[in-house]
Amino acid sequence: MGRDNPKEGIVRFYLALLALLATAILISAAWLAPVKADASGQAVKLPETHFASTQSRHGFNAPPGFADAVPARNKAHPQAKAVGQQVCTACHSKENDNFAHTAHAAGMQVALAANPNTATCEACHGPGSVHAANPTQKGSIIAYTHDGGTPVSNQTESCLGCHSGGPRDAWLGSVHQRNDLSCSDCHNPMVKFSAEGLTAKQSVSETCATCHKDIRQQFNRRSHMPLPEGAISCVDCHNPHGTLNPTLLKTDTVNETCYQCHAEKRGPFLFEHAPVRESCLNCHQVHGSNQHALLVAPIPMLCQQCHSHTRHPNDLQTETSLGNGLTADERLMGRGCITCHAQVHGSNHPSGPRLHK
Ligand code: HEC
Ligand code: HEC
Ligand code: HEC
Ligand code: HEC
Ligand code: HEC
Ligand code: HEC
Ligand code: HEC
Ligand code: HEC
Ligand code: HEC
Ligand code: HEC
Repeated sequence: MGRDNPKEGIVRFYLALLALLATAILISAAWLAPVKADASGQAVKLPETHFASTQSRHGFNAPPGFADAVPARNKAHPQAKAVGQQVCTACHSKENDNFAHTAHAAGMQVALAANPNTATCEACHGPGSVHAANPTQKGSIIAYTHDGGTPVSNQTESCLGCHSGGPRDAWLGSVHQRNDLSCSDCHNPMVKFSAEGLTAKQSVSETCATCHKDIRQQFNRRSHMPLPEGAISCVDCHNPHGTLNPTLLKTDTVNETCYQCHAEKRGPFLFEHAPVRESCLNCHQVHGSNQHALLVAPIPMLCQQCHSHTRHPNDLQTETSLGNGLTADERLMGRGCITCHAQVHGSNHPSGPRLHK
């Protein structure tokens, strides 16, 4: 037996293989771990939780847990001490009743049971000793209103203590942050108004409409995507927490946004129509239009905005060109230009360079 045992050789071989595999996994894990450059240009590792894989319906990341949470920092009263939620609820039992139905309350109570020093109310509102002693003193507690005495930056920092990164990577400098919005302009964590997202109104779109009434109203026009019907919402296309593009789109370009749901318009096409590739907004309005199919102008005028210099496309269309007119014109009959140029988004037919088929 011993050294010539073929079985022992195999075992040793597999052990060596396993060791190799383990090293390989460790090395690749180190490479794949989320890494970001800090101000000094040095690579710093971010906590895993910023890139948690659990995705909500709208593709935002899941935040870190409640375990061992600490009180938020109230910059107006750095010396204040934590008092614990029983002290808060003694005076705020009504608010606590509402709060008890929220995602935060559920998680926080579990964490509190595991560790009695875990912050709950104070994880958001900051340590309460100064406030409990003198409740009417402005700024004694982190208040989430624009006149409660707590600067908006202090309010948002409290939430970002648990919710930074991921979808909120670009919060700082975003159009909403620059316009002094607080998280609580869109979220009310004290009450469960919405099925998810703890929004300040019952739905995402209503929440946005508290300020963007004009945009919400465009969705009431004759042609619109099914947002009033509840099938899509503002956050399917926008990330209200900030993005790297000016109009808070979740994707780099307008067209990428549209392709998410209208993938067939991405192509590739044998014969492209240049304005489609450039931007869908050359012909479509996003939030609603009184023309057919969200168009910015009726056909044939839509097409004639660009096709005005050669042969039939640029013919002036007047009343007499209508179907019942003296010189009825096929470009005003049926579907106008697209009766013949049906593949206006691009054609895959070998004989479709004029977008006919
Ligand atoms: C002794 C009773 C008492 C205790 C204890 C107490 N509060 Fe209050 N709290 C009040 C009163 C009264 C007000 C209203 C003050 C006012 O209207 O000026 C208030 C207001 C608030 C507000 C709104 C502040 C604003 O300006 O909008 C918040 C938030 C708050 N309390 C949170 C807490 C938290 C969190 C705790 C526990 C750490 C706590 N309170 C403990 C009595 C109390
Ligand atoms: C996840 C963060 C968070 C936690 C945890 C939290 N609050 Fe609040 N609280 C808020 C925000 C945000 C507001 C502002 C809500 C709004 O826009 O009206 C608020 C508002 C309040 C107010 C002012 C009155 C009101 O309802 O608007 C009181 C009082 C209050 N909270 C008490 C408490 C108490 C007591 C607890 C613990 C049982 C608690 N909060 C836990 C975030 C939190
Ligand atoms: C102590 C950490 C902590 C703090 C502070 C905190 N949160 Fe959260 N929050 C969480 C965790 C953990 C979850 C995930 C709960 C779940 O999915 O069950 C969560 C969930 C949420 C959700 C999603 C709820 C849902 O139903 O999908 C929103 C919105 C939210 N928080 C907003 C806020 C806002 C606004 C503040 C500041 C006023 C805040 N949070 C402060 C830990 C925190
Ligand atoms: C302009 C409105 C707006 C502002 C301001 C805003 N949010 Fe949100 N937030 C939303 C909407 C809308 C959703 C999506 C809700 C849904 O999916 O139903 C959301 C989702 C979330 C979620 C749950 C999903 C996720 O991303 O993990 C968290 C947590 C959250 N916001 C935290 C914050 C914090 C923290 C701030 C302040 C720094 C903030 N929000 C500011 C509108 C806003
Ligand atoms: C409390 C008010 C308020 C709420 C609520 C709000 N916004 Fe805004 N939003 C603003 C302000 C102020 C600006 C910057 C001024 C402007 O361009 O209108 C802005 C700008 C924007 C812009 C960029 C406009 C541009 O021209 O660049 C988009 C996109 C946007 N908001 C989307 C949303 C969405 C989506 C929601 C809901 C999740 C929302 N907003 C909720 C106040 C609000
Ligand atoms: C189907 C995707 C989609 C949906 C849904 C959507 N938007 Fe937009 N939104 C866009 C695109 C695309 C733009 C234009 C971006 C550009 O011009 O670069 C835009 C522009 C905006 C702007 C800035 C320009 C302007 O017209 O003032 C605001 C504000 C805005 N959207 C708010 C909202 C709000 C609020 C909702 C929900 C009621 C919403 N959007 C729903 C895609 C969408
Ligand atoms: C979140 C998914 C989603 C995104 C993103 C999206 N759409 Fe839509 N769109 C829809 C749905 C759903 C319909 C309705 C389809 C139906 O009724 O069969 C629709 C319908 C349309 C229609 C036909 C409207 C009509 O009245 O016939 C046009 C045009 C359109 N979308 C253009 C766009 C453009 C342009 C973009 C990018 C700015 C875009 N869509 C982004 C979901 C989306
Ligand atoms: C050159 C103008 C033009 C451009 C640019 C354009 N479209 Fe269209 N689109 C039209 C016309 C015209 C119709 C109506 C077609 C019909 O009624 O058959 C239409 C209809 C649609 C429809 C509804 C009918 C269908 O074909 O499903 C959708 C969805 C749509 N467009 C999406 C897009 C997207 C996404 C983009 C950008 C990639 C885009 N369009 C760019 C002219 C354009
Ligand atoms: C924003 C400007 C714009 C709009 C609006 C537009 N087009 Fe075009 N179209 C172009 C450009 C640019 C080309 C490429 C011309 C070239 O390659 O010489 C083109 C090419 C075409 C072609 C192929 C012709 C050729 O010479 O290869 C047809 C057919 C066409 N368009 C029809 C339409 C129709 C029908 C509409 C209205 C539904 C329309 N276009 C709207 C800009 C536009
Ligand atoms: C009855 C069918 C029909 C209608 C309606 C029609 N076209 Fe055409 N179009 C054609 C045919 C066929 C060609 C190809 C001519 C050729 O290749 O010589 C063409 C060619 C074109 C071209 C290529 C450049 C050129 O001048 O040859 C453009 C651009 C164009 N059409 C735009 C339009 C626009 C814009 C409208 C609406 C105002 C329109 N067409 C309406 C059938 C039609």
